[in-house]
Amino acid sequence: MKDVNSPIISLKDIYTAYEGAEFPVISGLSLEIGHGEFVIVGGPNGAGKTTLLESVNGMLPLTHGTAHVCGMDVSRNGDAVRKKTGYVIQSFAFDPFTPFTVENVVMMGRYGILGCFKKPGEEDYRATEESIKLLGLEDISEKPIGTLSGGQQQKVLIAQNLAKKPDLLLLDEPFSNLDLCTREFVSDILKDISSKGCTVLMVSHAFDALPDKDVRIVVMDRGCINFDEFCHATEVKDIVRKMSAVA
Ligand SMILES: Nc1ncnc2c1ncn2[C@@H]1O[C@H](COP(=O)(O)OP(=O)(O)O)[C@@H](O)[C@H]1O
Ligand SMILES: [Mg+2]
Repeated sequence: MKDVNSPIISLKDIYTAYEGAEFPVISGLSLEIGHGEFVIVGGPNGAGKTTLLESVNGMLPLTHGTAHVCGMDVSRNGDAVRKKTGYVIQSFAFDPFTPFTVENVVMMGRYGILGCFKKPGEEDYRATEESIKLLGLEDISEKPIGTLSGGQQQKVLIAQNLAKKPDLLLLDEPFSNLDLCTREFVSDILKDISSKGCTVLMVSHAFDALPDKDVRIVVMDRGCINFDEFCHATEVKDIVRKMSAVA
């Protein structure tokens, strides 16, 4: 049973450094995010936004501090944290000859939960189908992923992560390849999953449709947080632009 009173993300004085680098990219950062919050991370290029997401899901080790996510210590339980967490990475492009169909790629979201050598069951097929439908990918579900446009691939990766039915969804600039119409469509999906209790932590500069609740804005600069406030959805765009420009 999950404890909704304790934060879903709790970072205490974390430092993260890339191998061989002289200075840490994240330095002395603390952050708590409650269950069901919708959080947008802004800040200039190189501020450490992607590094923050990868520290949250344990893909990058901490050099100092503690990170608890979904009730677990990320340094010790990275795999278990990643089973409960979706992560849509920044501008990923599949090789044109990748031998998987859209359906295969969406199903891969279930393998994280299943383990690689188990056969998917009824629930896995159902979750995959639901996700394909939700993102409107039915007509291209049999196509090889590498033959699709960047925007279509992006939607498939979002579907893959939703098929996982995560408690926490991390998204890194998920709108960068999407046309305006598709942005709104995807924003509405995020709004919907957030209203159903999934915590959303999203690095983004595009804000077409935000949830009907206060949105929390975290702005980073040089590995630290220099702004962290709840605000009304209509104010998000202005605040992020202003803070990111000042940073
Ligand atoms: N794989 C890597 N190896 C070494 N340095 C990296 C790597 N990835 C990112 N960095 C450095 O870390 C800093 C923060 O990067 P990043 O988290 O990607 O920023 P943002 O997502 O805010 O643009 C940058 O200075 C970048 O050069
Ligand atoms: Mg980035």
